[in-house]
Amino acid sequence: MPELAYLNGQIMPVEKAMVPVDDRGYLFGDAVYEYIASYGGRLFRMDDHIRRLENSLRGLDFPPVDPERVRQAVSDLLEAGKMERAGIYIQISRGVEPRNHAFSNQGPVQVVMTVRPLPDVHPHLEKGAAVMTAEDFRWGRCDIKTVQILPNCLAKQKAVDNGLYDAIFVSGEKIVREATSSNVFIVADGKVLTHPLTNNILPGITRKVVLEICRDKGIPAAEEFFDTQRLQAADEVFLSGTTTEVLPVVAVDGRRIADGQAGSVTMKLYGELRRLAGA
Ligand code: PDD
Repeated sequence: MPELAYLNGQIMPVEKAMVPVDDRGYLFGDAVYEYIASYGGRLFRMDDHIRRLENSLRGLDFPPVDPERVRQAVSDLLEAGKMERAGIYIQISRGVEPRNHAFSNQGPVQVVMTVRPLPDVHPHLEKGAAVMTAEDFRWGRCDIKTVQILPNCLAKQKAVDNGLYDAIFVSGEKIVREATSSNVFIVADGKVLTHPLTNNILPGITRKVVLEICRDKGIPAAEEFFDTQRLQAADEVFLSGTTTEVLPVVAVDGRRIADGQAGSVTMKLYGELRRLAGA
């Protein structure tokens, strides 16, 4: 099946979908996004993604967008794409108006989506990921899922240029925040830890599911700050995200984590996540 796009109510091949040059998402990064995955043709945690999309829209003072319209469009696009395992990208911009920093909020928002196949298994799952740390130089509202993620792109590129999978953002005080498109967990002293929900990280849906699995399976877990020293000394490190799923991290800044293998807690959480998703 070809990769498809949805543009303001119409489904078409991706290469046919164009947005005007005065789209505020294009000019100012004035847009929010979501990324939802399907397993066996079923969307995983759609409600959570739609709720976070609404929070992002509110966070940027967008005019109201009917969540049912978005939900229907996502379902239509997935059905048209006829893909069992797919990633659906949704982007809503404030719309099209002559370039001006201030906005009218009068025009219709622009809703753009794409559906593309996803590999069944993450390419880095087997060997685990090697990552680097990078100073978090992003803005103060990383909890809003805006398309303004150039710092994330630059940090990811630096990692790739160094032959690594990804970069983990750390604060000036060396607090571990999140990776460029996933949340970060460690397992230390028998406990699963991740950064608390603040303005400095995205409230990941997969992060939430991982914490739910820990609760259901009696695995001790907490939302707690930890620094790079604890990261490096952890028994296990992993990333969580919609495409990342649960991904073991085996090295940070050129130093192995524990024995350099995927950890047992990490792989148990991976298995449970896949089971819940219907993989
Ligand atoms: N990224 N942190 C950041 C900065 C992210 O961009 C993402 C998601 C996550 C994980 O969130 P979730 O579990 O809801 O996918 C954390 C998406 C997948 C992306 O950028 O495509």
